[in-house]
Amino acid sequence: MEQLKGKAAIVTGGARGVAKGVATAFVKAGAKVLIVDREAELGAATEAELKALGGDVVFMALDLADRAALPGIVDKALEAFGRIDIVVNAAQASRQKLVAETSDEDFEVSLDTGLWPTFILMRTAYPHLVETKGCVINFTTGAAMDAIPTQGSYSAAKEAIRAISKVAASEWGPQGVRVNIICPFANSPGVEAWKQWAPDDYATQIGKVSLRRIGDCEKDIGAAAVFLASEGAAYITGQTLMVDGGQTKAF
Ligand SMILES: NC(=O)c1ccc[n+]([C@@H]2O[C@H](COP(=O)([O-])OP(=O)(O)OC[C@H]3O[C@@H](n4cnc5c(N)ncnc54)[C@H](O)[C@@H]3O)[C@@H](O)[C@H]2O)c1
Repeated sequence: MEQLKGKAAIVTGGARGVAKGVATAFVKAGAKVLIVDREAELGAATEAELKALGGDVVFMALDLADRAALPGIVDKALEAFGRIDIVVNAAQASRQKLVAETSDEDFEVSLDTGLWPTFILMRTAYPHLVETKGCVINFTTGAAMDAIPTQGSYSAAKEAIRAISKVAASEWGPQGVRVNIICPFANSPGVEAWKQWAPDDYATQIGKVSLRRIGDCEKDIGAAAVFLASEGAAYITGQTLMVDGGQTKAF
């Protein structure tokens, strides 16, 4: 089923993990994909992997913390595909520290890698999304909804992303541009690192998953992203879709 045939997507953070799963699901659904990530080698390997599936995929190595370079992502997508239908903002880095021990610099890591690039890419892509009646998919976290210790700066960035996503959904709905948010739980390298670093917190979170398994980046999160980007979700905007096996039920 090529639900996204003819569509062109930008996926940030797509060299690995959840966003790689989204990029893979997009390619399998027929979309062309520009992957943006600061991990040059990993990104090139992902590009090769997805091209081997028959995908029209381009990788752009970029540190999203370089704000001045962000409009270049939109230029690159237009140069490669001539259109932009879908923007997925999934890249995010953060430092896990107690709020009282979080420095300004720690806090800025979350904003510079997550909030700022999401906002600037949304703003820059907007006129092109109006042309295609396209959509944006942003990412938040259950860590913010459950107020997990050491996740302060990360949660602040993610909830700010969710807030601006909802406002943009209100503002851009009349132009036919949809903006939604996914709150995932999946077996990415980032979660694997957290599991090693905080095994008790990880065990607690896994214990809350009603479906008793951790999600798959492509089959679970990617599939949900394909749905949100597809015609089937044409009447859905401003929503947070929990794709976490029932880990968090209220937000
Ligand atoms: N995996 C989960 O269970 C989970 C849970 C809640 C939220 N999320 C969210 O889903 C998204 C993906 O998470 P993940 O677990 O796959 O993360 P991950 O850490 O495994 O991968 C993140 C990717 O983003 C890239 N990235 C980070 N900072 C960047 C920068 N400044 N410039 C360019 N690329 C950068 C990394 O290189 C990496 O490829 C994130 O927004 C995360 O907050 C994931």
